[in-house]
Amino acid sequence: MSATIENLQVRRRRFLSPTYQTFYEEPVHFVRGEGVWLYDPDGNAYLDAYNNVVSVGHCHPHVVAALAKQAAILNTHTRYLHDLVVDYAERLLATVPSPIGRAIFTCTGSEANDVALRVAEYATGGTGVVVTRWAYHGGTMATTALSPSAGSPLGPHHRTVPAPDTFHDNGKAVADFPGNVSAAMQDMLDHGVKPSALLIDSAFSSDGIYIPDATAMRAAAQAAHRFGALVIADEVQPGLGRLGSGLWGFRHYGIEADIVTLGKPMGDGHPLGGLLLKPELVEGFGSIEGYFNTYGGNPVAAAVGLAVLDVVESEGLIDNSRDTGAYLRQGLAGFRGRHGIADVRGAGLYCGVEFAGDDMAATKAMTKKIVNGMRRHRVLISACGESDTVLKIRPPLSFTKAHADQLIDSLGQVLRETC
Ligand SMILES: Cc1ncc(COP(=O)(O)O)c(C=O)c1O
Repeated sequence: MSATIENLQVRRRRFLSPTYQTFYEEPVHFVRGEGVWLYDPDGNAYLDAYNNVVSVGHCHPHVVAALAKQAAILNTHTRYLHDLVVDYAERLLATVPSPIGRAIFTCTGSEANDVALRVAEYATGGTGVVVTRWAYHGGTMATTALSPSAGSPLGPHHRTVPAPDTFHDNGKAVADFPGNVSAAMQDMLDHGVKPSALLIDSAFSSDGIYIPDATAMRAAAQAAHRFGALVIADEVQPGLGRLGSGLWGFRHYGIEADIVTLGKPMGDGHPLGGLLLKPELVEGFGSIEGYFNTYGGNPVAAAVGLAVLDVVESEGLIDNSRDTGAYLRQGLAGFRGRHGIADVRGAGLYCGVEFAGDDMAATKAMTKKIVNGMRRHRVLISACGESDTVLKIRPPLSFTKAHADQLIDSLGQVLRETC
């Protein structure tokens, strides 16, 4: 380990809260990013196959220029009139079905989900929320209580259902998903809790990356509606073209969402989040003070968000997500049945590669070794799932087939070295 990295780690430990964790046994120090590449201080290039936040690529020149231009002109907030925030809302709302017709801007996905939960409580008069068993929906008090994967206890009015796991038990959990949602809502009622929302990340990212059959997803949403609950589509992971079929995960399945929450990929690394929702839900919401977010929807944020949408369109990134994602999965599928790899799944540029074994602890340790081995080969990926045995591959949407080849080649070498 270099002296610089050691020194940085010592200073981090001294000045930052221990809640900050680094990736990898040998942490990486980056000083520059461009497209799908990250560079360390010695100029070594790392292939970024992990960071969805930089959706259109690290430091995309169009996004950087839009940010710099607007930052040099004006940055205020939504208490003053400005055209860019309205332009951005209008452009986003044109991408969702017409019953959804209003936007609220925040800085993070957690805030977006937090406000969505408040709106759902306000609109339904209920407090009960259903999430999947290993979901992650954010770091505020309300969203942590709905993020079992974060390790906090679930709130008393919350219920979990198994994610629609497409792999184990021949996908039984997919068929069971709508019934499980109904049962959870009924259980709330039986305990005197009125249902308020079904909150789902339609890529089931923390649960292990599942892209289930659309029929089951639609039926689950309908079940929530039958109980008077709203459907909140958390697009922080599947949104902005990640699944390679339009901009949004909920539209991939044709789910009727009442509230769509946005985050990570919207700002290509800059703090942008928000909600798109049905107008009637927010009539009278926050009637005393409204909802104000100091930075959410400011002119610079709006300029960045618009620039990101420009790039997605002008570079054909949704099609690229679909085509390169399919190519990548086809290459990864070549490992299936070897080195303990039992399943390769996903949609667009969101891939999960699951390891299986009789001894879960050993399988988890092996998955960790593969992730660290890839890092040594200068390819960045991670792991997810309830047992941390699923490789999580989720590069910027500008990833090409040549990048996919490099990833597959490195993974082959690491698998041979490790297993
Ligand atoms: C599905 C999902 N929802 C919400 C969040 C929270 O977003 P943020 O970290 O921007 O608050 C995350 C973050 O990882 C997420 O994955």
